[in-house]
Amino acid sequence: MKNLLSIEEMTADEMREMLALAHRLKAERGRHAEQPLAGQTWALIFSKSSTRTRVSFETGIAELGGRPMFLSTRDIQLGRGEPIKDTARVLGRMIHGAVIRTFAQQDVVDFAAYSGIPTINALTDQEHPCQILADLQTIEEQFGAGSWKDLKISFLGDVDNNMGRSWMWAAKHLGFTLALAGPEQAMPKPETLAALNCPNIICTTNAEEAVRDCAVINTDTWISMGQEAEKGTKEKAFFPYQVNRALLSVAAKNHVVMHCLPAYRGYEITDEVLEANAPVIFREAENRLHAQKAVLCTLAQH
Ligand code: CP
Ligand code: NVA
Repeated sequence: MKNLLSIEEMTADEMREMLALAHRLKAERGRHAEQPLAGQTWALIFSKSSTRTRVSFETGIAELGGRPMFLSTRDIQLGRGEPIKDTARVLGRMIHGAVIRTFAQQDVVDFAAYSGIPTINALTDQEHPCQILADLQTIEEQFGAGSWKDLKISFLGDVDNNMGRSWMWAAKHLGFTLALAGPEQAMPKPETLAALNCPNIICTTNAEEAVRDCAVINTDTWISMGQEAEKGTKEKAFFPYQVNRALLSVAAKNHVVMHCLPAYRGYEITDEVLEANAPVIFREAENRLHAQKAVLCTLAQH
């Protein structure tokens, strides 16, 4: 694997190997001798805000022997209109890898192609692959490694956003049942579903149907970064998909609620549900570090 640009492009075997490595790196944190990034500089090129992704990558790169360099697009020429392909060709001659958070998926694809260095998608409007790997790691910790076939996972709210799309590709590769519930306006586009061609993905406008007997219930903000102007028009249609105590009464007895964070209490999730699931949700956040160290090790070996 040279780059991590999307879950769509990963194979099931690559995902399984990545998760196994993430578990090992977590267990060995502070004791593992591997320094695959020794002597390397990795840039974090971010056009959007971040707490978890930035801190976990900066920490992970340092723990693997490398030097992280944070570049906000507010400060570099990219933000003033220098083309991504020129930025990529300059950085590709100086640094050893790049972690990019931006809007267009094509920008991470172009950066990888023009720079020639390992490139990681740290969130685009299309996908959030690093988050999904950490989420899958958290689910394996909770329900056992490799138990995908027997699991029903749901994702509620803005199901055709970057998280929803990454969940769909994960369901395609690993074979778990994925129930997506949201208002009509948020349903995945027919061409997305056709490209997936995946019978284990269920789309419904009925939140209860998605959550019934479900072991893992996921949600995310209704207003992703860059969509702030849609706040007023979107929210009303999304309230039936709020993850709250009443809705969870139909979930599996041993269910967990997950959230990639940041959470907007009183909107996609209630304070009560978030706090009741805090041990899992904040372990999910911690696992960003371990899962991304697995990604960095894998790409550095290429
Ligand atoms: N979940 C996530 O990517 O968080 P940040 O936006 O804080 O990086
Ligand atoms: N869908 C959200 C995820 C944040 C981590 C967004 O893109 O803002």
